[in-house]
Amino acid sequence: MNTRIYCLNENQEENREYLEEAAAVLREGGLVAFPTETVYGLGGNGLNPEASRKIYEAKGRPSDNPLILHIAHRRELDSLVSRIPEEAELLMKKFWPGPMTLIFEKSDLVPRETTGGLSTVAIRMPSHPGARALIEAAGLPIAAPSANLSGRPSPTTARHVAEDLDGRIDMILDGGPVEIGLESTIIDVSGSVPMILRPGYISQEQIRDLLGACEWDPAILKKPGEDFRPKAPGMKYRHYAPKAEMVIVEGEWERAAKEICRLVSEQKKLGRKVGILCGEETRKWYTEGLVKTIGTRQREETIAHNLYYCLREFDEADVDVIYSESFGEGALGAAVMNRLLKAAGYRVIKV
Ligand code: TXA
Ligand code: MG
Repeated sequence: MNTRIYCLNENQEENREYLEEAAAVLREGGLVAFPTETVYGLGGNGLNPEASRKIYEAKGRPSDNPLILHIAHRRELDSLVSRIPEEAELLMKKFWPGPMTLIFEKSDLVPRETTGGLSTVAIRMPSHPGARALIEAAGLPIAAPSANLSGRPSPTTARHVAEDLDGRIDMILDGGPVEIGLESTIIDVSGSVPMILRPGYISQEQIRDLLGACEWDPAILKKPGEDFRPKAPGMKYRHYAPKAEMVIVEGEWERAAKEICRLVSEQKKLGRKVGILCGEETRKWYTEGLVKTIGTRQREETIAHNLYYCLREFDEADVDVIYSESFGEGALGAAVMNRLLKAAGYRVIKV
């Protein structure tokens, strides 16, 4: 398949032609990758079971892993869900459009192929103007997982989408690098107390401030086991992973850096190509290996923004093993560590 790639302008009026073409592809059951403020999404008609099947196939994703439906206006929600709890209304008022996905009881309109067989459905209203214009042009709820091959880090640029999906989908809309760089916060509002299933840019504190109570799926920062499964089906897969083996070294900065240097020397002696993921503050301590600075610890948004980008760069450089510092501080710490732990397959050395 020939994948058409179009660059979007800031001015949505100038994008009209591309957006109309993309909307037609979606209405005919095809697939279009598009930018959102979190990561790039791989869109298909969320009400068409055949389009959902195509999404799973293009990504190589297990079909029991449900998709998020993207809408552009609050009124589009009503026909997709069977009940809208009070907490959901408050959350939507405050955080939509934006990086927040809510899980509702689904209506009959939403096919089980889209929800991985579940009776609930995930819905998000993105704030990215290009994403919103595309949803409006298509006149459909767009089912969109992150636009990466299953198991690869989520794409934060159109080039990353093309690396994974060129030739497998109809179109890529290039809106430049995304703003946030981590996937949306997922909150299940279908139960009695709202529960975070995936941490993201909107933090638990922000949700607590608004609602008073908000639980946290214990699988978010711990390795899931047989009797301990994450509530978002997608969170059980080794996800967000670079090709190289990855290990997180956790502890006081200087001690952690010393341990990483020791491990790097050890691996180099074995003839292995080694990557190091570090903060700006500790960069000076590394003299060997391929060192990537994720950003300063003073700005957690930068760290979140650069994480997937750095992991893909290590892939491009073909490293065999990556040692990463730990980045758990601040309101975004849980979201960053959740992705980092998965990328590392939960391998952590504490020093
Ligand atoms: O920021 C985002 O959310 C991006 C952009 C493109 O919107 N999308 C995204 O989709 O990250 P995806 O498919 O890569 O991740 C969706 C996650 C998966 O872990 C999936 O299992 C979970 O949401 N999920 C979807 N529907 C669900 C449901 N009904 N119940 C529980 N978890 C659900
Ligand atoms: Mg994903």
